[in-house]
Amino acid sequence: MSTPKRILFTGGSGKAGRHVIPYLLDKGHRVVNVDLTPLDHPGVDNLTADITSSGEMFNVMTSYANFDELEPGTGVPAFDAVVHFAAIPRILIQPDNRTFEVNAVGTYNVIEAAVKLGIRKVVVASSETTYGVCFADGVVNPKVLPVEEDYDVDPMDSYGLSKVVNEQTARSFQRRSGFDIYALRIGNVIEPHEYDRFADFFKNPAQRRRNIFCYIDARDLGQIVDLCLEKDGLGFQIFNAGNDTNSVDIANTEILERFFPGVPLSRELEAHEALFSNRKIREVLGFREEHNWRNYISA
Ligand SMILES: NC(=O)c1ccc[n+]([C@@H]2O[C@H](COP(=O)([O-])OP(=O)(O)OC[C@H]3O[C@@H](n4cnc5c(N)ncnc54)[C@H](O)[C@@H]3O)[C@@H](O)[C@H]2O)c1
Repeated sequence: MSTPKRILFTGGSGKAGRHVIPYLLDKGHRVVNVDLTPLDHPGVDNLTADITSSGEMFNVMTSYANFDELEPGTGVPAFDAVVHFAAIPRILIQPDNRTFEVNAVGTYNVIEAAVKLGIRKVVVASSETTYGVCFADGVVNPKVLPVEEDYDVDPMDSYGLSKVVNEQTARSFQRRSGFDIYALRIGNVIEPHEYDRFADFFKNPAQRRRNIFCYIDARDLGQIVDLCLEKDGLGFQIFNAGNDTNSVDIANTEILERFFPGVPLSRELEAHEALFSNRKIREVLGFREEHNWRNYISA
C-alpha cells in the first residue's frame, strides 16, 4: 500500500493523466490537477494554469487544493511530490518551435518551482521518441536493441529534442538540490478502450516500427508513477515506461529480421520481450504489469 501523499499533477486532463490520476486517487493520494482544462473525475481537485508561466507554477504549488484545506486554520499544506505530464504531446499539432518552447520552458518552470519550494520528489514525462526512431525523417534504425536507458539519445525532431532537453533540466536541478527527480520515457500510451486497435497492429506490424513496437497500458503507467512516488533516494533517474512484451503477435526473431536487419543486440531476448526494454522499472521499482494486451485480445 502506498503512503498517502499530496500531489500536484500537471497535464492530468489528457490521454495518459485521466487514467494515471484515478490510479493515484485509488491508492489514497490527494491529487491537484493543473491543466488548461479541468479533469472531470470524482475526488480530483483542479486548478487552471499554464506551465509556460513561471509565476503560475510557483503559485499553484503554494495553493490550497480546495476549500476543505481552509478549515484547520494552519495555512497552506505543502506538496509531497509533483508529477509533470503537461506538454504538446507530439510533432504536427503546433508549429515545431512552439512545441519545443512549451515543452522545454514549461518543464523548466515546473521543475524550478518544485525544487525552489522544497518539493523533494518530481516525476516528469519524457518519451520513447528520445531514441530518435519515432519521428525521424525516413527509416532510421536504433543503434542497438533492446533500447535501454543508457542509450545515446539523438532525436531529429523538435518534440523528441524537447524531451531530451527536459531530461537534462531534470538532471541539472537534481544535482543542485539532491532531491529525487525521475524522468519516465513513456511508450505509446494505450487506453483501455484502445485494445481493438491491436488486431490492425497484428495485420500490419510495420505501423509499430517507429514505436520500436512498444506500448504502455495507461493504468500500468499509473502503477509506474505510483512506484516512483514510493521509491525515495535514487537521485536523478531515467526509466523506460513500457509493458513487458511488444505490441505485435510475432516473435522477436521475425521482428528483427523484417524491421531491424543488421541492428546489433546487447543481450539475448526472450521470444516476445519488449524491444523497448522495461527491465529497469521491473528490477529497480518492482513494476509488475497488470494489463498485457493478451488479457484483452487474442493473437
Ligand atoms: N500519449 C503517448 O503515447 C505518449 C508517449 C510518450 C510520452 N508522452 C508524454 O506523456 C505526457 C502526457 O501525454 P498525453 O498523451 O496524455 O498528452 P495529452 O495532450 O493528451 O495531454 C496533455 C495535457 O497537457 C495539457 N497542456 C498542454 N499545454 C499546457 C500548458 N501550456 N499548460 C498546462 N497544461 C497544458 C493539455 O491540456 C492536456 O490535458 C506528455 O508529456 C507527453 O509528451 C505521451
